[in-house]
Amino acid sequence: MKVDVLLGLQWGDEGKGKIVDVLAPRYDIVARFQGGPNAGHTIKSGDCKVILHTIPSGILFPDTTNLIGNGVIIDPLIMLKEINELKSIGINAPAGLIISRKAHLILPSHRLLDAVQEISRGAGKIGSTLKGIGPTYTDKIARQGLRIGEFHESGFSARYIEHRDAHLRQAAQYKVDISTLKFDGLDFDTYEKQWFDALKAIGEIEQVDGEYYIHHSLWNRKTILAEGAQGTMLDIDFGSYPFVTSSNTITAGVCTGLGLAPSNIGKVFGIVKAYCTRVGSGPFPTELTDATGELLRGTGNEFGSTTGRPRRCGWLDLVALKYSVMMNGVTHLFMTKADVLSVIQNIGICTSYQRDGIELDYVPFNQENLLPNLIHRHGWNRDISQATCTQEIPEELHDYIRLIEQATGVPVAIVSVGPDRAQTIFTRPF
Ligand code: GDP
Ligand code: IMO
Ligand code: MG
Repeated sequence: MKVDVLLGLQWGDEGKGKIVDVLAPRYDIVARFQGGPNAGHTIKSGDCKVILHTIPSGILFPDTTNLIGNGVIIDPLIMLKEINELKSIGINAPAGLIISRKAHLILPSHRLLDAVQEISRGAGKIGSTLKGIGPTYTDKIARQGLRIGEFHESGFSARYIEHRDAHLRQAAQYKVDISTLKFDGLDFDTYEKQWFDALKAIGEIEQVDGEYYIHHSLWNRKTILAEGAQGTMLDIDFGSYPFVTSSNTITAGVCTGLGLAPSNIGKVFGIVKAYCTRVGSGPFPTELTDATGELLRGTGNEFGSTTGRPRRCGWLDLVALKYSVMMNGVTHLFMTKADVLSVIQNIGICTSYQRDGIELDYVPFNQENLLPNLIHRHGWNRDISQATCTQEIPEELHDYIRLIEQATGVPVAIVSVGPDRAQTIFTRPF
């Protein structure tokens, strides 16, 4: 057996949560392998809508096991809130959940550091979700992080205090008045107290040696789907650095984030939004800052699932998409939000960039000041949100899909036409 992978090919928010939820019944285990509560994965089925930050998107199915891998970083308070929200809609989340002992903890003081570092960047700010992602991964790589498996060991509290005090000393070096900072509306001391209470609750969830768990599961012929967070263009190595997140969001991250060998990887499902969005700072060559961008934002409800911030919107970028397909070894493309493009008469598609009069057909080292070279295609200008099969897809959308398939060399196997689980068209077998 192999582990299939599902991940985002753009700048995040491609609709990964929705598609994982659609595919979850096919898998015994859904496993997150990187990122933390910077992610916001939305699932919708009828009247039920949930936004997941830490918990894998298979959680709505009682028979699916949801593994939080070693590559994920966990804020217990945010995770407990998710569990309680799931409980309020009748889902007994802890029952389907297991956590790798090696997953690192996001401490309240990581969030504090994230805030002061972002403030001190001024105009060069990254646009972080301020969930403590950068500082927590920094400590992990510097070999000074705290892992959730240590919670049950003696001396944990003392180690926590050591870490916190070191962070506070570091934060004091920035010219920021930390007494005014709030964390999800709470001052630091209140956040810390609630964080500790939450850690006690989260500490009760079953912990495993994730790498053994996943290999034993494969040997026992269990089917596994690895769920990515963020997107390829936010990858720490290959995204538009420094405007990136702090983990490897690409397929390679599945190996380190779950403890797998490359030969364990099976199909790679790349989620591509029919247009592009980006939240936070950084280059975005196809960005539309005009009324068309506004129209996409309004129609697509492009506001951050984690922060509520308006997402920047733009045309589909085939140069970036081909790069992402290459970096991830994508075997199947799943296109989301095709319904949103129904409002556009003349759809732009970026086939190359130009800068200083030079045409570039690849993602360059420096992605600043790139202008898109666009081709245009007729829109379909009709509501497709009720379409259920390939035959109900308008010819213009078929054309758009063919263009993507030809450019990438990868088949589009799902077309999503709305946020609901049911609004999903399977266009090719996989
Ligand atoms: P993720 O982070 O990749 O899981 O994506 P988000 O949940 O942050 O953002 C995607 C948004 O688009 C959510 O509000 C989804 O409910 C919604 N969505 C997903 N697929 C579709 C689709 O095909 N059409 C429309 N209109 N909305 C979609
Ligand atoms: P999902 O999984 C979209 C962006 C932030 C910021 C940059 C760094 O829902 O697709 P960080 O908080 O990681 O320090 O922020 O990355 N970002 C996301 N953008 N979707 C996400 O996750 C994101 N997670 C982080 O906006 O620009
Ligand atoms: Mg999201």
